[in-house]
Amino acid sequence: MKINENVSLKDLNTFGVEAKTKYYSEISNLLDIEALFEWKSKNNLPALLLGGGSNLLFKNDFDGMIAKVCLMGKDIAKEDDEAVYVSAAAGENWHDFVRWTIDQGFAGLENLSLIPGSVGAAPIQNIGAYGVELSNTLHSLQAVNLETADILEFDKELCQFGYRESFFKSQALDKLLITSVTFRLPKKPEWHINYAGLREALAGEVLTADVISQAVISERQRKLPNPSQIGNAGSFFKNPVMKVTDFETLKSDHEGLPGFPQTHNDEVKTSAGWLIDQCGWKGHRVGDAGVSDKHALVLVNHGNATGSELWQVAEDIIASVEGKFGVTLEPEPRVIK
Ligand code: FAD
Ligand code: EPU
Repeated sequence: MKINENVSLKDLNTFGVEAKTKYYSEISNLLDIEALFEWKSKNNLPALLLGGGSNLLFKNDFDGMIAKVCLMGKDIAKEDDEAVYVSAAAGENWHDFVRWTIDQGFAGLENLSLIPGSVGAAPIQNIGAYGVELSNTLHSLQAVNLETADILEFDKELCQFGYRESFFKSQALDKLLITSVTFRLPKKPEWHINYAGLREALAGEVLTADVISQAVISERQRKLPNPSQIGNAGSFFKNPVMKVTDFETLKSDHEGLPGFPQTHNDEVKTSAGWLIDQCGWKGHRVGDAGVSDKHALVLVNHGNATGSELWQVAEDIIASVEGKFGVTLEPEPRVIK
């Protein structure tokens, strides 16, 4: 494992924020994982695993090791009468993997098209879009414990998936390196097209995974800013989930508040984008840090914003939404202090 020092992270995070890491390495094989394990056991410094850097905000320079996971490879692991099982190594690009499954004639991942980042990071926050989450099709994953060097296998239950949550984002944060992920893709496809905008876009179409994938891609390109044009990390806050009674009380004061009933616990998910929009933040800009004029839930870097400047905008948004609605927004990307 080659270790570089004082490396710029600007091109390694989709916010395009300038920050330096003291040490930087790339993990391309089992020997590199062993070397990272050794390095961790000898150095009393933090080690952060990096995929595509599309869900991170660096507030400061990083005084430790950033290890970019570059493990590559994908294949059809097995097949039975009902499903195919496809596996991909953690460093594979998520969207390329989704398109590869569709090109093989498999369905199940089409609604998750065009989500940036790597296969290995996808289970961390149980990526979701257009009515589907990773947990719908995840079969199992492999990980290495960076404290013991044990190789572990997780089935879906062990992953403890929730809305933008998992075991890996909570208890096991920074302790496990996910090396590969396996998906179970049913041979009899089940289409999910009820998300607002998708059904209309697909009206009259013969449904296939490819047709749905293309519709999702168009919707995403229409709604979300492209990180290659303007730095961002997608939604900066989670959509708040609240008790039905609290939601009804809030809605009685704020007509138009969107609500999406959840399948369990008497809960409703409301829209952080709507709450932020109502506070007038869309298109707001201070220097190079701001809020997208396309989508109120997306913070943007117009060029040279620092992580601290972006975080200041986030804090101001949290305070204003709390003041107007009494709802506390929770950041969705990982903020590295
Ligand atoms: P990184 O940002 O590199 O890392 C994220 C976390 O995962 C970090 O804690 C990191 O340490 C950890 N990690 C990375 N790799 C590994 C590994 N191999 N093993 C263990 N830990 C690891 N997310 C959604 O859920 N739905 C969306 O629709 C969506 N849309 C987006 C749109 C845009 C324009 C952008 C920029 C982001 C969007 N995101 C969305 C967020 C982001 O794409 C996902 O969270 C993605 O899974 C992050 O992948 P990454 O490889 O970039 O992870
Ligand atoms: N809205 C506004 N103003 C805005 C934007 C949105 O009022 O500027 C309101 C509208 O009422 C709209 C509603 O918010 O109908 C929902 O907006 P959208 O469909 O864009 O979805 P979202 O809730 O903002 C979530 C995910 C996205 C995912 C999309 C599609 C979260 C935090 N975000 O966004 O995920 O792509 O749904 O499924 O759950 C991400 O996690 O980074 C991400 C982009």
